[in-house]
Amino acid sequence: MFKNKTILVTGSAGFIGSNLMKKLLSKSENCTLIGYDNINNYYDVSLKEYRLKELDNIKSNNNYIFIKGDLIEKDKLDNIFLEYKPSIVVNLAAQAGVRYSITNPDAYIQSNLIGFYNILELCRKYPVDHLVYASSSSVYGGNKKIPFSTEDKVDNPVSLYAATKKSNELLAHSYSKLYSIPSTGLRFFTVYGPAGRPDMAYFSFTNKLIKGDTIEIFNYGNCKRDFTYVDDIVEGVMKVMEKAPEKKTGEDGLPLPPYKIYNIGNNNPENLLDFVQILSEELVSAKVLPKDFDFESHKKLVPMQAGDVPVTYADVSELEKDFGFKPHTTLREGLRNFANWYYDYYMKGVK
Ligand SMILES: NC(=O)c1ccc[n+]([C@@H]2O[C@H](COP(=O)([O-])OP(=O)(O)OC[C@H]3O[C@@H](n4cnc5c(N)ncnc54)[C@H](O)[C@@H]3O)[C@@H](O)[C@H]2O)c1
Repeated sequence: MFKNKTILVTGSAGFIGSNLMKKLLSKSENCTLIGYDNINNYYDVSLKEYRLKELDNIKSNNNYIFIKGDLIEKDKLDNIFLEYKPSIVVNLAAQAGVRYSITNPDAYIQSNLIGFYNILELCRKYPVDHLVYASSSSVYGGNKKIPFSTEDKVDNPVSLYAATKKSNELLAHSYSKLYSIPSTGLRFFTVYGPAGRPDMAYFSFTNKLIKGDTIEIFNYGNCKRDFTYVDDIVEGVMKVMEKAPEKKTGEDGLPLPPYKIYNIGNNNPENLLDFVQILSEELVSAKVLPKDFDFESHKKLVPMQAGDVPVTYADVSELEKDFGFKPHTTLREGLRNFANWYYDYYMKGVK
């Protein structure tokens, strides 16, 4: 897909970043692919090491380099931009998680605001063809109108995490306008899959259920999430990476910002109770849970949590219009892949 390009992916030891790098390694030719990640311990570091090892084992004719570093280390990043002059930058490194932002605000300000600003500054200093960065469905806050459209007002974040993601979009807009940096922000909707993030429900529920603990289902199960399989996200990101927003001139003779925002979500929200039902069935099929597992006695319906929203639902018509693509993996297929991976990784010890 990509030929003779230099691409920098931050957060490349992360869930989405490692999957993107995997695809880039297998689909690109003669590219220099640079991964950057601080490998922080927000969750089990061995999972990040496992993902990086998988990347090391992929044979390709690309030049793959991994550099350990923090977005905060501007000089280190500057040296990377100076040496490699990436033409495409995909910024996925960030402090993720809505709930953690309530108790650990510092990490969000550092990585998501100052870190993102460093990326913008370097894209200005060493002009890039395209900056693609992760935003989030959380920017829609408690919006009532569904499905969520990129045309909707998103000025009411209900978590600091969401506020930093919305800020990224604003900062990117100003850089696109002032310095004509083509940028695309992608609002991801609840991404899941094999070797995903242990802090997310499908993964933490599984960890709890195998220990015989009870899982808590928020808002008494009256939540809907647009669960999006990681391969669909990666396919969407790759399509977007290839086509930077065009540089055009406005009526005032000044450049219009080459700036775009897209939703990438499944466009098919699932009720949380249906989601846990499918998860439990797939965990049994994959032998993660025993056949006679009494699922009903291990779930508890509890009230809504601060920072959470009752529904997420992506309008992906813009993505379809511009790229002819929308996510298609069903929740059952995706959770089956997760359950099989979980069995191999934790129960058979294939690492
Ligand atoms: N997974 C989802 O459901 C989801 C939904 C919406 C948005 N996003 C966004 O997508 C991106 C990737 O998410 P993910 O699920 O892969 O999360 P992840 O935590 O698995 O990946 C992020 C990676 O970035 C690294 N990182 C964090 N702060 C850093 C810093 N300051 N410097 C360098 N590296 C740093 C981490 O070590 C991690 O490996 C994030 O920006 C996240 O906010 C994810």
